[in-house]
Order: sequence, then structure tokens, then C-alpha cells
Amino acid sequence: MTNTAKKISPDVVYHQATVTRPRREQILGHNGAVLWFTGLSGAGKSTLAHAVEEELHNRNCLTYVFDGDNVRHGLCGDLGFSLEDRKENLRRISEMCKLTADAGIIAFTAFISPVQEDRQNAKALIGEDDFIEIYCKASLEVCEGRDVKGLYKKAREGIISDFTGISSPYEEPENADLIVDTGTNTLEECTNQVLGYLFRRGIFISARK
Ligand code: ADX
Repeated sequence: MTNTAKKISPDVVYHQATVTRPRREQILGHNGAVLWFTGLSGAGKSTLAHAVEEELHNRNCLTYVFDGDNVRHGLCGDLGFSLEDRKENLRRISEMCKLTADAGIIAFTAFISPVQEDRQNAKALIGEDDFIEIYCKASLEVCEGRDVKGLYKKAREGIISDFTGISSPYEEPENADLIVDTGTNTLEECTNQVLGYLFRRGIFISARK
């Protein structure tokens, strides 16, 4: 079985809940959604996701940020950085986000998610109505110049292998819903750009005051 094939345990029967997604969303005052941030390490995915989350939270939206480094402390702590492990990492995240969208939550994912096919799989699993792909565009030079975690230096020295942008590929999104220039624009500008897009798309238009 491939990583992308649907996995269902034997002898299980799906249980339909009586409390449905629309009923939850009615209480919340907004729809569930997944804001999928992609970009190089150091591009600012997590920073931007948390900044946008802050704005939505302040508008009484129920939100949650799934961050690459954090998720790899638990749920995906058994995975490394081969392309196969990254695929499995993103598959688990996608399944989780499908559930959080069903719960009515506005989830943010901040994963490099370097492979176009893996992002496409995420979109297919979560459903395109709920999936918003946001490309945090920052050049390798900028990200390496920032090197907040010192990982680019280690990758250049060969201490870390399979490092995105150095020894592992990053495929730029072909059809991102939004491209944010996190390499040159300020955090405030990027945040406003995302918020503007969300308003236009009606994601949290009816959130309670
Ligand atoms: S993904 O490719 O599977 O989407 P993910 O976002 O979960 O990656 O993890 C990326 C984070 O792990 C980076 O921000 C960095 O802090 C850390 N990291 C450690 N090793 C690597 C590596 N070889 N390549 C990329 N990131 C790495």
C-alpha cells in the first residue's frame, strides 16, 4: 500500500454523529477551514500563521496553529526528512486538519511541505472548499541569511542531510491561492494581505463579535 492510499483498519464501521459540522459552525459563527502555509525553513510560515491567528482569535474565531517543529515533537516524532517521511508527515497532518475543519476550527499549518504532489494530496483529502494554500515566498538567500535556528549552516557543513533548499528540493506552488512575499514585506503587511484574502473569501465573515 502506498502512503497516499486510503488506510482503513479492518472490521471498523464509520459512526455518524448527530451533532454535525453545520451545527458546530453555527455556534462558532464561522466555518472550519485549513490555511496551509508552505515555504522554505525560515521563510516565516509559523510567524505569519501565529500573527494571523492572533487577529482571528481577537475576532472570536476558534483557531489552532499546527507547526512543523512542534508536531515533530509528538504525532510525527518518529519521522525524519526523507521525501517519503515528509509525505507521511503531511498525510497525518492532512488527516488531522480534515478533522479540525469538521470540528469547525480554522486551522493553520506551517510545514515546509516541499513537494507539489504532497500539497495536492492534502488539498484532495481536506477538500478544496476548506483548503487555502498560502505560499510564503522568500528566497533561499534570504532564509539562509536569517538562519534563525542555525540549521542552514549545519546543512552547508554536511552535519544535517536532506535539508530543504540545500540538499533536498523545494517545489514552488503551481496554484497557490495566495502568494505572500515574506522575504521582503513586513510581518504587518503580510498579515494584512492574508486577512484581506480571508475576508474576500468569506472565511470568517460571520464570526461573533
Ligand atoms: S516537511 O518537509 O515535512 O513539511 P516540517 O515543516 O515538518 O517539514 O519540518 C521542518 C522543520 O524541521 C524546519 O523548520 C527545521 O526547523 C527542521 N528541520 C530539521 N531538519 C530538517 C531538514 N533536513 N530539512 C528541513 N527542515 C528540517
